Amino acid sequence: MGGIVRATGSGMGCPDWPKCFGSWVPPTSVEQLPENYKESYAQYRDKKNQKFVRLLRSIGMTETADQISNDKTILVEADFNPVKTWIEYLNRIVGVVIGLLIVLLFVRSLKYRQSSPILFWLSLATLIAVIFQGWFGSIVVSTNLTQWTITVHMFLAMLIVAILVYLLHASAEERLNIPVASSLKWWLMVCAVLLLIQTFLGTQVREAIDRLASASRDTWISSLGAEFIIHRSFSWVLVIAHGYLLWKLYETSEAKTLTTTLMVLILASVLSGVGLAYGGVPPYLQPLHLTLATVTFGGQLYLFFGLNSRNKTVLVK
Ligand code: HEM
Repeated sequence: MGGIVRATGSGMGCPDWPKCFGSWVPPTSVEQLPENYKESYAQYRDKKNQKFVRLLRSIGMTETADQISNDKTILVEADFNPVKTWIEYLNRIVGVVIGLLIVLLFVRSLKYRQSSPILFWLSLATLIAVIFQGWFGSIVVSTNLTQWTITVHMFLAMLIVAILVYLLHASAEERLNIPVASSLKWWLMVCAVLLLIQTFLGTQVREAIDRLASASRDTWISSLGAEFIIHRSFSWVLVIAHGYLLWKLYETSEAKTLTTTLMVLILASVLSGVGLAYGGVPPYLQPLHLTLATVTFGGQLYLFFGLNSRNKTVLVK
């Protein structure tokens, strides 16, 4: 959903938070808004940013705080557009549903506090992370989509995915338990770290594209610098690392399906990246490219938790 918000430029569809234009059901036409809506929401965000700037200063992030308080473009309010408003609102509704499901997860984990404390503590950690993510989403909006805040928002989402995948593994009645040599298990961890690095490099390309956003989409890629070349070339590292994993795990029938899926996901990420780069960054590929990277990360962790390097009876070397 976040990717769709981004691809359609709807991030500022609701200038306030958690309500949207002061209402739980957002407006559908500009007539429903007061005439001075731009000034009043700019003021609203300004107040919120000042609080955030104070918080940043108190934790020693003075430079970032200065950047936010000196950047006058942050307070420029976009024209009302009902489609963008409703896309952003739908994104928030999905966020609320996720939040409620995580509250439910936490409530259900209470009964395992004694028998399986890890389930309880990790469910609590997920709840705290999702509340923080909701609050941080409001900072993304109040700072008018300041680039680094989007990157932090995305990595937080990946952290939540990581904890949830572990909980899925740890709470399963029949856990995935594939015996392998420990070196292969750690190779898979290397693959996950490489993917996180590639994700970071991808966010740098996205940040650079955001700086060009006012120009036509066709010119975006040709105006990019080293961040694009590095991100594109780093794909080879991922393809080779996963190729090696697939080759090594191919004899293990249970791991074969999951590892092949990972390889297909990596290749699909590369292909969607090529489509973005050489097809003029079509909006429909932006959320797809992002989703493929996130699903691959979840899949890597799911396989990692399921590989058992302690059971020495059947070893894949
Ligand atoms: C394993 C392969 C790849 C992975 C996991 C990956 C992952 C990512 C991620 C996570 C982003 C950030 C999206 C965001 O912050 O919104 C991104 C952006 C991007 N990537 Fe990749 N990428 C891969 C390969 C490629 C390749 C091969 C190309 C080009 C030939 C490419 C072109 C781009 C472009 C143009 C963007 C910016 C998209 C936007 O602004 O929405 N990627 N990538």
